[in-house]
Parts: sequence; C-alpha cells; structure tokens
Amino acid sequence: MKFLVAYMTKTGNTKKIAEAIYGETVGEKELKPIEAVDSLDGYDVAFLGFPIHQMGPDKKTSKLLAKHCIKGRKVVLFITHAAPENAPDLQPMLAKFRGAAREADIIDMFDCQGELAKGIKRIMSLMPNAKFRMWAKMDNSQGQPDQARIDRARAFARDVMKKLGEAK
Ligand SMILES: Cc1cc2nc3c(=O)[nH]c(=O)nc-3n(C[C@H](O)[C@H](O)[C@H](O)COP(=O)(O)O)c2cc1C
Repeated sequence: MKFLVAYMTKTGNTKKIAEAIYGETVGEKELKPIEAVDSLDGYDVAFLGFPIHQMGPDKKTSKLLAKHCIKGRKVVLFITHAAPENAPDLQPMLAKFRGAAREADIIDMFDCQGELAKGIKRIMSLMPNAKFRMWAKMDNSQGQPDQARIDRARAFARDVMKKLGEAK
C-alpha cells in the first residue's frame, strides 16, 4: 500500500503528530504539508491532519477536505486542539471535521491537545465572547503534544496499520 501523511500546521503541533504517525506507517509513504498536495490520486490511504481553528475547520481546511475527500478515497483524520481531550465542547468541533470529509471513507480519527500559541491566547482573553475568555483563562495546553500524546499517536497509527492488514 502507498500512504500519504499530509498536515496543516501554524505552530508545529500538528506536524509533530504527523511525524509520529508517519514513523509507524509501513511500506511506500510520503510526508508533506497539505499545501504541497495536488491530489490524493495514487495513494491507497491518506492521513490528513489539521488544527482546530475557531471551533472547527477554518475555511481553508474545509475547502481542502471537500477537495480531497471525495467518494472512493480512504482517509484517516488527525486533529490537534488547545481544548483538553475531555472538554465537553470538543466533540462537536471534531464532528465538523468528519462532516467536511464525509464523502470519503473515514477509516479512523485521532485527536490530541496541542499548545495554544501565546498570541492567540492573549487575543482570546480580550474577545467579547465570554466563552473564548473562559477558554483562555482555563487553558492548560502548554507543552502539548507531550511525549504521552506522541506515543498515543504512534499507537493509533499502528492500530490503523493492523486494521489495513499492514502491520510491521
Ligand atoms: C486562530 C486559532 C483559533 C483556534 N481556535 C481553537 C478552538 O476553537 N478550539 C481549540 O481547542 N483550539 C483552538 N486553537 C488552538 C489550536 O487548535 C492548537 O493550538 C493546535 O494544536 C495548533 O496546531 P498547530 O501548531 O499545528 O498550528 C486555535 C488556534 C488558532 C491559531
């Protein structure tokens, strides 16, 4: 099988997870920023990674997911976010990524916390929406993704390989 691991990243968190996943994919494989990907033609499975921006995929991400996640494609999504993994607000945000990729066959999905950039945290703490101010105050994402999360991403990728019959 031929795998693509493609990611979007502004501050490096999603890239770290992409590299962890890439390390566990077996056989022919490529790792690229998603901006460098024209088409998923020629790949059997594409792992596509994004950060959450403003409670879901931003416009650019939605467009990329709609472009690449067409009928017949096999994709695995991986998402990083500043919210803790158990935050009640998180699942609806993740569901928006699934929704944007819905035409494809979504094999599996991974998510983990990634550090909120200081500048964004400052902006959030000044926003009129009280929810954003509360999130900025409660932010505990510093240092993420940590080693435990990177290891979890590795284990996730190994599980996907097993599911596809491509275990090491
Ligand atoms: C403009 C912007 C908006 C964001 N909005 C959210 C959000 O709504 N929920 C959330 O959990 N994290 C949010 N984040 C935090 C990022 O999802 C998180 O820090 C992610 O790990 C960044 O990934 P990257 O380093 O690959 O860019 C936002 C970050 C930015 C820059």
